[in-house]
Amino acid sequence: MSDQPLWHKEAVYQIYPRSFCDSNGDGIGDIPGIISKLDYLKSLGVGIIWLSPIYASPLDDLGYDISDYYKIHPDYGTMDDFDNLVKEADKRGLKIVMDLVVNHTSDEHQWFQESMKKDSPYHDYYYWREGKKPNGKQPPNNWTSMFTGSAWQYVPSVGEWYLHLYSKKQPDLNYHNPKVIEEVEKILNFYFDKGVYGFRCDVINQIYKESLEDGKGHSFSARGIEHYLMKEGNHQILRKLYEDVFSKRDCVVIGETYAVDFKNGYRFLADHEMDMFFQFELMGVDQSKGRVFSRKFKTKNFKRIAYEWQKNIPWNANYLENHDQTRSISRFGDEKRFWKQSGKALALFNLTLRGTPFIYEGEEIGMLNKPMGEPENSRDVCALYINSIAKKMLLPRFWRKRLINRVDRDHARTPMQWDKTTSAGFSSTTSAWIPVNPNYLEGITVEDENNDPDSILSFYRKLLSIRRQSIILQEGDFEPLSSADDVIAFRRNYEGGSMMTLINLSGKEHKLGMKCGKLSGKVILSNYPGSHVFLEMTLRPYEAILLQL
Ligand code: GLC
Ligand code: CA
Repeated sequence: MSDQPLWHKEAVYQIYPRSFCDSNGDGIGDIPGIISKLDYLKSLGVGIIWLSPIYASPLDDLGYDISDYYKIHPDYGTMDDFDNLVKEADKRGLKIVMDLVVNHTSDEHQWFQESMKKDSPYHDYYYWREGKKPNGKQPPNNWTSMFTGSAWQYVPSVGEWYLHLYSKKQPDLNYHNPKVIEEVEKILNFYFDKGVYGFRCDVINQIYKESLEDGKGHSFSARGIEHYLMKEGNHQILRKLYEDVFSKRDCVVIGETYAVDFKNGYRFLADHEMDMFFQFELMGVDQSKGRVFSRKFKTKNFKRIAYEWQKNIPWNANYLENHDQTRSISRFGDEKRFWKQSGKALALFNLTLRGTPFIYEGEEIGMLNKPMGEPENSRDVCALYINSIAKKMLLPRFWRKRLINRVDRDHARTPMQWDKTTSAGFSSTTSAWIPVNPNYLEGITVEDENNDPDSILSFYRKLLSIRRQSIILQEGDFEPLSSADDVIAFRRNYEGGSMMTLINLSGKEHKLGMKCGKLSGKVILSNYPGSHVFLEMTLRPYEAILLQL
């Protein structure tokens, strides 16, 4: 197929720049560090690199709070460094995708500073409102922030409150104001003109607040969400961005769409508002009530959710990890007994589904959650909010520690483990901005895995290369197969050819439990030596097999 979009063929690798590679020894990852690892990414076999935000920012939410969209944060380098990155990536046939964070800006953004003057045109860039009548001492409504607590902040010098769905240093932009949309288009064009290939659009399905009426629901789970999630106005803005900007570029548009379901998410693709979007239902498989409460992980539920999305959404953005989630082996696999096997099993799952696979830095070497620490030491603004609320509720330290350990986004943000030298080769300093996971000394590093044909990294390389050459894996349809509860089994079919994925996602042996007549095929890739496939076979713990039928 020659008219395939590039993002059907290529996998995406997400870089969290602060934690990827530090070139100058200040303990913070940077753009020259990324450039120095482009050959590694090329050798891995990905084609697109998505960068979490590198713009000017006070870093309250580590860059998801932007104070100037047209400047690079000095921690990461300069605009020249960025231009150089695009150029060097291009030389290697790699594309760069940027993070577009425009639900909110930083409170230190000039627009917001200006907006504090009531007669300024910028006042209407944000949601400034008077407090609830009669005395105005209460917030304008009862909405709670995604990071817990009221979604409003009072500013005495203005005599009004502003809305922030995230931290109070992330005021929400007002999309009823056409000027705001113009600003977004300007940002997009600025980076497209620099040669960027696309955007991952942060929390893009909640930018349009339809009304500011009180919300229903519990304060734990973003009360008020029914007034701003997936509203008609939101769809219209996305359509406008598409018509004005995206349709004029050869690009990819990826939405981060919190709390989307496949019925309402379908429209994003059907109406061509974006190319693909991240769903959160699969990440909710072991959680309930806004991440704070946990639920037992069951492979049965995991595959049910994944299959539903595969069947109902024509093209998925598939991921098991990112900078907001804990590490996938720690979560869905077995980091102690079957680290390697479960890491490869999860890779096979993620990379053979229909859609674009996303790999998060370190996932390809099987990086794990960090050891449990004191809650106050988290660098994650959300975890710190949750901790302070739990403290107010008098939850004992022991329980708070466990709670924060479960939700802490730091797990995915510890430095990339390159080798066994100082700070895992991430930085020449011993004091990185966030501590390195000590397990790099046990060999969870790129260098250790690089030359080991049996490593998780080698498995990723083989799998990415298979996917790149297989029109079946790129374009084939998705056919779920009935199988035992802990066994994932599906086929991908394209013009008479088929591939089959078989995964025992559990630490126990399992029969396939498939109900078809017979089963045979050629094993293309497996995470155990000597995998033989037949209908009555028993899969070993976390055994994962890719078959050509
Ligand atoms: C997205 C980002 C997350 C950030 C939030 C607010 O969910 O992935 O890291 O905290 O938006 O911008
Ligand atoms: Ca640095």
